[in-house]
Amino acid sequence: MSTKLSKPTIALHWLTALTFLAVLGMGLYISDLPRTPEKFELLAIHKSLGLLVLVVAAVRVVWRLKEGKLSALSALPRWQEISASAVHGLLLVATLLMPVSGLIMNIAGGRATEFFGLVLLSGGEKSETLASIGSWIHHSSINVIIAVLVLHVLAALKHQFVDKDGMISRMLGRVP
Ligand code: HEM
Ligand code: HEM
Repeated sequence: MSTKLSKPTIALHWLTALTFLAVLGMGLYISDLPRTPEKFELLAIHKSLGLLVLVVAAVRVVWRLKEGKLSALSALPRWQEISASAVHGLLLVATLLMPVSGLIMNIAGGRATEFFGLVLLSGGEKSETLASIGSWIHHSSINVIIAVLVLHVLAALKHQFVDKDGMISRMLGRVP
């Protein structure tokens, strides 16, 4: 049985990983800035890249549902199989939840939704309740997401360099 990953799986993984990490890093950086024009310029880029994550993540989830779970690289203990599935599931949810909650915050704040200057939705009425729900999700998920991400990357590094099973090589399109 081939353990190779399909090209869409690999491309969608790295596209989401890079854009997600960039948007996450930007969000953390922006939140500490004073309310200057620079902050709002960066926030606009944060929102546009965040919307890109949403589109790529949605395609990825559809692809994952169509293709099914990743083929096992080697026989793993049951607890590792379960925790890997849980971590992957949480990361897939995070890539949808963060942009959706950001979008809710933006729309409920009465602001226009723009993608690099292109107006996708014009600003409308404000809803304080909805805005605070969006803001609560957007801000309170961050620490959990960072913890899960650290776990994910450490597990991948352990497989690649300690167990030497080629897990990262496989995600880079090389036959392990
Ligand atoms: C630079 C950091 C990263 C490395 C080294 C890495 C590495 C990997 C590797 C090796 C796999 C395959 C696991 C296996 O064969 O069982 C994988 C799968 C996965 N990774 Fe990452 N990853 C990184 C960042 C991310 C980020 C930022 C996200 C999402 C926010 C993410 C989400 C996922 C998901 C959902 C899977 C399951 C496979 C899929 O649905 O396509 N990864 N990662
Ligand atoms: C992958 C998607 C996204 C990630 C990972 C993300 C992450 C973050 C992070 C880490 C913060 C800093 C929060 C804090 O330190 O408490 C933040 C703030 C924010 N994000 Fe996002 N975000 C994403 C998408 C979006 C989108 C799509 C929008 C709106 C359309 C948005 C709007 C905002 C706003 C308005 C803030 C508040 C900035 C401030 O502190 O003044 N985000 N985001």
